Amino acid sequence: MHDQLKGEKVLLTGGAGFIGSHTALVLSNLGARVVVVDDFSNSSAEAVKRVEELSGQAIVCEELDCRNQEALESIMGSEKVTSVIHFAGFKAVGESVQKPQLYFDVNLGATNALLGAMESTGVKRLIFSSSATVYGDQNTPPLDESMPTPIEGAQNPYGLTKLMIEYILKWQSRAQPDWSITSLRYFNPVGAHPSGRIGEDPTGEPNNLMPRVTRAAQGQIDKLHVFGNDYEETEDGSPSRDYIHVMDLAEGHAAALAAMLTTKGSDGYTVYNLGSGRGTTVLELLKAFEEATGVHVPREIHARREGDLPVSYADPSRANKELNWKTSRTVVDICRDAWNWQQQNPRGYQK
Ligand code: WQD
Repeated sequence: MHDQLKGEKVLLTGGAGFIGSHTALVLSNLGARVVVVDDFSNSSAEAVKRVEELSGQAIVCEELDCRNQEALESIMGSEKVTSVIHFAGFKAVGESVQKPQLYFDVNLGATNALLGAMESTGVKRLIFSSSATVYGDQNTPPLDESMPTPIEGAQNPYGLTKLMIEYILKWQSRAQPDWSITSLRYFNPVGAHPSGRIGEDPTGEPNNLMPRVTRAAQGQIDKLHVFGNDYEETEDGSPSRDYIHVMDLAEGHAAALAAMLTTKGSDGYTVYNLGSGRGTTVLELLKAFEEATGVHVPREIHARREGDLPVSYADPSRANKELNWKTSRTVVDICRDAWNWQQQNPRGYQK
């Protein structure tokens, strides 16, 4: 599978982060040569070391801020990079509302510098970490790539940066018709590598569901707050999301890169949803967690969280067909692997 990745030299910006590290592992296992750049502002070099241990392959890893175009050019030149996957960026929704300028500076600045560095070093393949947040709240699930994603639909500054970068990449592809650019719209990435050696390690208090579930199960926090059980759109009243195992997501990146390498010449600009196509409610997820681990998660029903959609899930058929990729792990697998990671690393990568 994906033989075409052998020997490909892939730069991962933000490659020490949650999704980047799992993608580094999948690519290394397929014979690609992985180069990671990361500023470690929300990640750890330890993750890259563990990927090397798991794969038995060396990874070149350099600490840099992606807004530094010269530093990017230097490493892309010296490592003879041939493709780029761009994960680097800030991603905390709440923080982006407090500090919008920071999000525009970091997320847009890094993308601009990266595009400049690709132009000057002649690298023509780019995959971008986008998000289902670009669909906003005006589209009805299943969400598919043909739906409109107007700028007015952005839910917060973080989401606006994802949307703006998608537009930037579309124009970049018009200006550079011999490039291949793909945006991958992630649904809700969760889980961890089954070894329990790499996983999600959010700095500070996590806000997302899965890290809060594992912390509540472990007693690090008192209870999981269930944000709403009065949504008419779901059977049990709690909101529903398309949770995707991070290893399925990582394999989606490998499939997208392999597809780029297979087509002769450019594909222009393409967008794919990476999701399972199924929604799971918060209460269903808690049930799956208990089934997977035998551990009860203390919980309390609270009011709805402001800005939350009732239901969100992907139509993944374009990626299924064109990338020959689909998710293979269940929500029970997700819970088992997330719990395994949390138990082995109660303080994340901190020893
Ligand atoms: C999932 C569900 C909550 C915490 C966000 C961003 C998105 C993307 C991923 C990433 C919701 C419920 C949560 C809790 C709960 N960004 N919940 N108790 O909101 O779908 O997506 O993260 O980089 O852009 O918007 O994910 O994990 O926060 O919430 O009941 O303590 O869990 O209401 O229904 P969300 P989430």
